[in-house]
This record gives sequence, structure tokens and C-alpha cells, in this order.
Amino acid sequence: MKVLVIGSGGREHALAWKIRQSDHVTWLGIAPGNGGTSSVGETVNIQANDIEGIRKYVEENSINLLVIGPEDPLANGLSDVFDPGTVFVFGPSAAAAQIESDKRFAKDLMAAHNIPTAEYRVFNDPASAKSFVREHGVPLVVKACGLAAGKGVFICGNESEADEAIDTIMINRKFGDSGNEVLIEDCLEGPEVSLQVITDGENYITLPPSQDHKRIGEGDTGPNTGGMGAYSPAPVMDDDMVERCGREIIEPTLRAMREAGTPYKGLLYAGLMICEDGPRVLEFNCRFGDPETQAVLPLLAVDLVDLMLAVATGKLGVMMDAIKLDSNDWKRISRTGFSTSIILASEGYPGSYQKGKEITGIPSEREDLIVFHAGTKWDSGSLLTSGGRVLAVNGLGNTLKDALNKSYEAANSVEFEGKYLRRDIGWRVVGDN
Ligand code: AMP
Ligand code: GLY
Repeated sequence: MKVLVIGSGGREHALAWKIRQSDHVTWLGIAPGNGGTSSVGETVNIQANDIEGIRKYVEENSINLLVIGPEDPLANGLSDVFDPGTVFVFGPSAAAAQIESDKRFAKDLMAAHNIPTAEYRVFNDPASAKSFVREHGVPLVVKACGLAAGKGVFICGNESEADEAIDTIMINRKFGDSGNEVLIEDCLEGPEVSLQVITDGENYITLPPSQDHKRIGEGDTGPNTGGMGAYSPAPVMDDDMVERCGREIIEPTLRAMREAGTPYKGLLYAGLMICEDGPRVLEFNCRFGDPETQAVLPLLAVDLVDLMLAVATGKLGVMMDAIKLDSNDWKRISRTGFSTSIILASEGYPGSYQKGKEITGIPSEREDLIVFHAGTKWDSGSLLTSGGRVLAVNGLGNTLKDALNKSYEAANSVEFEGKYLRRDIGWRVVGDN
């Protein structure tokens, strides 16, 4: 079977790495890929947002399975452009991808179906947003309603921070049309987890739960990023909590999406906060998390292509019945132990940063160590930085501490000018490293 993965991040390198291990796969392409994906498949020189280019390539090259990594092509309808029966597509329709691309859609869906989330209001002009800030009081959270690469969320401890966030989104239009509407919600407290499920719209399989570290600075300080490191499984998600999240969040969300006429098929990512009175949804994503995927996939003990095909053909329930797998029993499809993924970023990220720095010292892959590439590219035989998040260094171990030690040892051996990493991934569980 010929498989094409769309995207160029660490997530896509991890997806391609896992897909390559499947016996179903005779050919694997990654479009446009990065400096690391060429070690697992063929680089296809088409950008992830070039929907027509991808459609033509898939048809002309008889691709059997298309796996769409990033949110932008999903929100722009890449899943919807293929004639039924021509290619299996893993990734939701544009209508279902609204669960990420339109925060108002997601919040209204949750409110209508009693899915636990923070209280919220949506505004389309800055003056009424600012007057609500005064009425509501701080702290609160200000979010751009549209896609903003994980950077459109501002936690505001005072009114002037909230005003500034509203101005950034609505007046300075830092995120373009994604800032036409602003969402203001209560500030929640508690540990965060990323719960990812693979679903055909009706049935679902939970993947090992993970935790990301969104802030740039150690101790969870500074601005939000796409994610600076992740570990899996997340101990806060004990069996009861996974069950509860399935019952209170995942099942009602899938039902709500079916009832709204936008059944959700693909990978549903629920960003949760485990509050004192239970789990609440911070956001949904319509795709695999980055860097959660880099941490989770090395733990997965089943063929990912089998799961993706079962979703694309609507046969996930049949497959689960055949192996008697319960939706929330992620331990049955996972290796034991822990996996950690540490992001090496370019100094300055998530603000401006330099590119084109030579990268050396990447250790070879081992059973317990994998380096996934993100912002890297080859140029005349040299590997260069080409993005904010450059590499994800992944360690596996029997304990979280073990896995972290492996990740950090390898992270220390990699060199490039301006290398930045957080040295405290997992600190809430293991204390400072
Ligand atoms: P989001 O992209 O909506 O997940 O938000 C990015 C990050 O902002 C989350 O991972 C949380 O750390 C934080 N965040 C978002 N919403 C809230 C909230 N209502 N209360 C507290 N923190 C939040
Ligand atoms: N790591 C968070 C995300 O993928 O949105």
C-alpha cells in the first residue's frame, strides 16, 4: 500500500516513522517533509497547504492512504476533495475540523451538550470585550477564535494585560482573520493533560495520555509556544480518570458531532485541565498533538496503519470487537514504561529567531532513543536549522526519570548555535531535574 503523510513538523516525522513499521506499507512519501523524514520515506515536494497539488499527486500516483498532519489543510478541506472510493483519508472533514479551527463552534457545542469547559463569552468588537473584562474581573483568558499555531491564547492576571491581548488579536490583527472574534473565558487551575483518541465518529480508541509543556520558560513561565516537551503516560490520568474523561467528554463530543451533521473521523485531541471538581476541556484539536505525538507513538504497540484504515473504512468498532478492546484500555495497546520528548528550539522562539545554523551531534537511533526532526533541512550535505522548533529528542525508560535522563543526555550532545531547551520537562511529576 502507498501512503502519503502531509506536513513537515516533528509530529509528521514521528507519524512517518511509525507508519514505516507497518507491513501494509510498500511506499511512503512525506510532503513536504523535513531534514529527518527522508530517512523513513521519499520527500514529495508539495507544500501542506497546496490542496490542489496534493489532490493531483494522490490521484496520479495512486496513493492508497493519505494521512494529514497539520490543522491548516484540514480546516481548508483537504479531506473533502477526493472522490469517494479513490483513497483512504485519515483526517476529519473541514466541517468537523471546526472543532479546532473555530473556538466559538467548539465552545457552543460543549455548552449545548453539557461537556465540561470554562464559562465563556465571544465578542466581535474590542470595546465590548474590554468592558466585559471589567464586569467579569481578572484573572481570565483571552483567545483568538481562529487558528493561531497555539500562540493565540493569553492568560491575563490584570485588566491591562487583558486589554493588551484584545488589542493584539483584534486591533493589531497579529493572527489576521483568526482574530475577527475573541473568546474570553474563566481561568482554570489544575494539571493539564492531552487526551488523544482515534475515532471513526462512533467508536474510539484512547492513546496513551500525555502532558505537554506549552510555555517557553522553565517553571511554566513566559509566552505560550507550540509545545516545548512532552511525556507519556501522564500519571494524573489514572484508570478512573481516563474512564471519566471518556464518559463525560469524548463520548458526548462524538455524539454531538454526529448530531450536528459533522461526524468526527480521525484523531481527536482533547486538551484537558484536571480541576478540583473534575476534568474540563481547554481546547480540542482536529489532529495529533506536537510534541505529544513524538512522545506517544514510540509507546504504541499496535500497527498505526491498521487503526487508520479501520477509521477510514468505518470499521473501528468491528476491529475492537474482534480483539475485545475497550475504548479506554490504552494500556493494552501500549508498551510499559515512559517516553519523553524534549524540544530543541532556536533561540528567540516563539518570537523571531535565526535559521541556517549547522546541526551536529545527533545520536543514532536506538531502541530507547529517537531524534525526530522538525525545523531542519539539508543543504549541500549539511543539516541546518530551518524553524523555531528544530528537533524532538525522545527517550524511553522504565521510569519517567529514566526516560528523561536518556532524552537530556542526547539533547546535550546535539549542537547548534542558539540551541534552547527547557531543562524541567516532567518537573511536576519528578521535581526539578
Ligand atoms: P489552548 O490553545 O486553548 O489549549 O491554550 C493554550 C494553553 O493556555 C493551554 O494549554 C493552557 O495552559 C492555557 N489555557 C487555555 N485556556 C485556559 C483556561 N481557561 N484556564 C487556564 N489556562 C488556560
Ligand atoms: N502540543 C499542543 C498542540 O499540538 O496543540
